[in-house]
Amino acid sequence: MIVNGKAYRSIWFDKGAACVKIIDQRWLPHDFPIVELRNREAFIAAIRDMWVRGAPLIGATAAYGVATQMVIDPSDNSLQETCNLLLATRPTAINLRWALDEMKDLLEPLSERERAAIAFERATQICNEDVECNRKIGVYGLELIRELSIDKPLGAPVNILTHCNAGWLATVDWGTATSPIYHAHKENIPVHVYVDETRPRNQGAHLTAFELGQEGINHQLIVDNAGGHLMQHAKVDMVITGTDRTAANGDVCNKIGTYLKALAARDNGIPFYVALPSSTIDWTIDNGISDIPIEERDAIEVSKIWGKLDDGTIARVQISPDDTPVANPAFDVTPAHLVTGLITERGVCEASREGLLELFPERRKASSEEE
Ligand code: MRU
Repeated sequence: MIVNGKAYRSIWFDKGAACVKIIDQRWLPHDFPIVELRNREAFIAAIRDMWVRGAPLIGATAAYGVATQMVIDPSDNSLQETCNLLLATRPTAINLRWALDEMKDLLEPLSERERAAIAFERATQICNEDVECNRKIGVYGLELIRELSIDKPLGAPVNILTHCNAGWLATVDWGTATSPIYHAHKENIPVHVYVDETRPRNQGAHLTAFELGQEGINHQLIVDNAGGHLMQHAKVDMVITGTDRTAANGDVCNKIGTYLKALAARDNGIPFYVALPSSTIDWTIDNGISDIPIEERDAIEVSKIWGKLDDGTIARVQISPDDTPVANPAFDVTPAHLVTGLITERGVCEASREGLLELFPERRKASSEEE
């Protein structure tokens, strides 16, 4: 998508520099640094310390991390160790495991000499597939927005609330939750987006507001606690979020606070959709609430906050008393029964095992073989 008039992806291989480049998202929106990732340690830090984040982008970065390591050391030991180290960086988003399994299954049978070139080819393909999945999610999600727009007075926008950043910065391009919004905008359907700030790391305020602003999409930043009030007053027509891991029964795990939005949406009869590429589905898990590991992050994310001071300097300030004990669960699970529908690259389905299997019938065969 566009930043200052120039089209970007969130990760790419730069042939001239012979390395992978990313946007270091820790400094957005105040700075827009492009960073080179040249060795395994850099890839591990980039995922663990959230230079890149968002389930699909984490997977794509890990794939390029394996490829980069295959140039340095293509041995079996190095492949195994690299996959283990990358897998340990963040526990919740399943795309990480998915991408590493893809790379390992492809590379293991190859000779050491063949590995680097094929690994880069597959990592680039994973990125391109993500872009195409998200484009299709946008096409299917657009129809949901179009339906809501039909009942609106001429020129009135469809009001969409979103949480965290499930935009192009969380994927390779388009985003998941934002793709239908970008498609609607391109079709001249008026949209207005309520952007949850998304404490503690403020991905909504830092990233989603930045993306939407750059694309010229009508939006307002709101505090996380405003959603329920806005829904009660008929100011929200639909909610669309992303997901870091979708259980086979349709439960969705996304950034902390998503569940509360789903509860408020249900209480107010507002459709709550979740957009996802199929790489986000964990077919091995049947109950998201009990079985999805929830990442617990550093206390400093809660007790301190980053931002731009009035004099323009970027600073981190403490907002709680010294040494306040902190809990920081980074994700929560919204049970399937609160989800109106899942928007995937194959269409929109009910959030249930049967709904998912209707869109992904090849999994029906795989599940019955496993039983
Ligand atoms: O901790 P983050 O920033 O990686 O969390 C990101 C989210 O929760 C997104 O909503 C999710 O990855 C879906 S992204 C398309």
